[in-house]
Amino acid sequence: MNKNINIAIIGLGQIGCYLYNELVKKNKEIEIKTGKKIKIVGISAKNKNKKRKFNINKKIFSSNPFDIINNRKIDILFECIGLPDGISKKIVEKAIVNKIHVITPNKSLIAKHGDYLAKLAEDNNVNLEFEASVAGGVPILKTIKEGLVTNKIKKIYGILNGTTNYILTEMENSNESFQIVLKKAQARGYAEPSNPKLDLNGFDAYSKVKILSALAFDNKISKHNALMEGIENIELKDIKIAKQLNLRIKLLGISEIINNRLFEAVHPCLVGNDTYIGNVNGVMNAIIINGKPIGESILQGEGAGPGPTSSALLSDLISIVRNDVKKPFGISYKNRKNIKYFDNKDYSNSLYLRFEVNDKPGVLSSITNTFAKYKISIKRIIQTPDKINNKATIVIITHKTTEINIKKCLSIFKKNKNIIKKPTLIRLYNYN
Ligand SMILES: NC(=O)c1ccc[n+]([C@@H]2O[C@H](COP(=O)([O-])OP(=O)(O)OC[C@H]3O[C@@H](n4cnc5c(N)ncnc54)[C@H](OP(=O)(O)O)[C@@H]3O)[C@@H](O)[C@H]2O)c1
Repeated sequence: MNKNINIAIIGLGQIGCYLYNELVKKNKEIEIKTGKKIKIVGISAKNKNKKRKFNINKKIFSSNPFDIINNRKIDILFECIGLPDGISKKIVEKAIVNKIHVITPNKSLIAKHGDYLAKLAEDNNVNLEFEASVAGGVPILKTIKEGLVTNKIKKIYGILNGTTNYILTEMENSNESFQIVLKKAQARGYAEPSNPKLDLNGFDAYSKVKILSALAFDNKISKHNALMEGIENIELKDIKIAKQLNLRIKLLGISEIINNRLFEAVHPCLVGNDTYIGNVNGVMNAIIINGKPIGESILQGEGAGPGPTSSALLSDLISIVRNDVKKPFGISYKNRKNIKYFDNKDYSNSLYLRFEVNDKPGVLSSITNTFAKYKISIKRIIQTPDKINNKATIVIITHKTTEINIKKCLSIFKKNKNIIKKPTLIRLYNYN
């Protein structure tokens, strides 16, 4: 690489603007650490006249990113638009075939097109780096690719979405409903104001699980229908009952090899409030890796926000400037595997089920009889009557059972007229 490194930033939103300012501020430091001088020679966003967190140098700005890629000499391009396809994919493709190294925080793009783009990068002998796509500033991808490179990883799981962790923590701390806390999260910039759906329904965490699995198990990015549930149905009631039971609800992303098959999931879990993961609160992310010979290793830190994300983007930049070309997923696409998928219906856990019912004789036994039919044994029942409305809340904690069994029970509960709404199901993680 030359002594002078030319940089382009495409997308000047929350991340792109912060990154621009960091690159300007840390220019000298980067030179000391790499021996190379960096220069921002192209910036692009959709709206030329939008007010940004820095003064736009009109000479380097273009609202057409391809204008920058085609007409300026660029060594490294940051894609900070954030779409899973479309312009984001086209920019990355174009840059790679033009022999430009690419860095992106765009998890949706990598989770969807990572295999194809990694092959393209390898074929064109350039880097494609995406450390910022998983857990913001926490260097989890480099830890897997470099620090733990010869370990046999068996399982990797954790809290991968700061928005949902903030909401669950704040509901417990403030005793406020999901909807009120969601508004707080939006006001503080932790949740997207217009469409927070992808955080809440588990999709964001699932994109990260896919990237982690690919790296941890040298696997191609998975394409199956994994178990994905978000936190939209968690009510304050569930948080309070969990507290009574010395448990906490956390949205976990899980990637594991079970019986030589790949299991991936994102779902709310009840975890002990004395466990490590049960005490990762607020916007924090945490990832636990189980490998051989390392044993259990944990990384924790801020999972989102422009600061931590830029930290990861700059780490990728320095890594590219310092070293030779590396394979985006650690090894060549030729050696990456297609591990068969674990069948979700065999996934088994103890379960928490909350039923809202009419307070009538025989209702509880109709529920327990259904469990008995599928040989699901019950560990605990908590019944709270609402005498004024003739209703009751029944919480049942079961011993371990499989997804297929609980699915069958839920379809029977659906027909039970005394169960007023769909029961809330939360899996107890790592419980017998
Ligand atoms: N925000 C975080 O905390 C965070 C954390 C980790 C990872 N990420 C990832 O970082 C990426 C960027 O996120 P963000 O929060 O910075 O998004 P954002 O604030 O919505 O910014 C997107 C930027 O893309 C620009 N853009 C859209 N279409 C364009 C086009 N056709 N040509 C040129 N520019 C275009 C927009 O231009 P205008 O400004 O003119 O509209 C805007 O500046 C996403 O992949 C996201 O998942 C974000």
